[in-house]
Amino acid sequence: MVIQVVTLFPEMFDGPVTSSILKRAQDHGLADIRRVPLRWFGVGPHRTTDDYPFGGGVGMLLRADVVVPAVEWALAHHAAPATVVVTSAQGQRFDQAMAQELSRAEHLVIVAGHYEGIDERATDLLGAREVSVGDVVLTGGEIPAMVMIDAIVRLLPGALGAEEGAVQESFSGEGGLEGPQFTRPKTFRSRPVPEVLLSGDHARIARWKVEESKARTRQRRPDLL
Ligand SMILES: C[S@@+](CC[C@H](N)C(=O)[O-])C[C@H]1O[C@@H](n2cnc3c(N)ncnc32)[C@H](O)[C@@H]1O
Repeated sequence: MVIQVVTLFPEMFDGPVTSSILKRAQDHGLADIRRVPLRWFGVGPHRTTDDYPFGGGVGMLLRADVVVPAVEWALAHHAAPATVVVTSAQGQRFDQAMAQELSRAEHLVIVAGHYEGIDERATDLLGAREVSVGDVVLTGGEIPAMVMIDAIVRLLPGALGAEEGAVQESFSGEGGLEGPQFTRPKTFRSRPVPEVLLSGDHARIARWKVEESKARTRQRRPDLL
């Protein structure tokens, strides 16, 4: 899968895309995560990428005549048809189902907005899908893009080791929350690990996990049931 992120701040991705599972997925050729610096497409001698909003209002907007050519360049640099996503606090809410859907794309272009957002015409002309990572306003779309990339890439077949399987995680399978988990030591500050987990009885452990998962989902996220 090829993921291209169109961004004013490509350096913000240095840590996330060069560490942990995202690094491993790229090393194994499962994902190719590329950054497309918006500045390359800036206009005028100063490569300007933003301007004042018509009609007044605070802050600056990314210009359509910068964003659209940047995405067109990204589209032209990979043969497979692409899904284009624009990060926006006003977009459709990103969730595990959307991560699963997007993980099936061969080519994904994510546009990270900045300042007060992007000229509306860019999103329209690109036929882009607006995606939000939650009802909160962030400074830019870079962190939402990282959230999406992380969630999508870990779902690519082979990205997780057998010991990290995504099948039983929260929001997967039955769609509920995963139950509580424990590791060594067996007792910590007078709190023992539930006895069933030390029993070696795999069928009983599996039943316990299902019950705990249901109870936790009922208690914390009844909307998922
Ligand atoms: C400061 S925000 C702009 C907010 C915009 N003026 C509004 O009121 O909806 C700047 C950029 O950050 C990104 N952004 C902020 N919050 C986001 C969220 N919850 N999900 C996805 N992207 C977000 C978007 O790309 C947005 O264009």
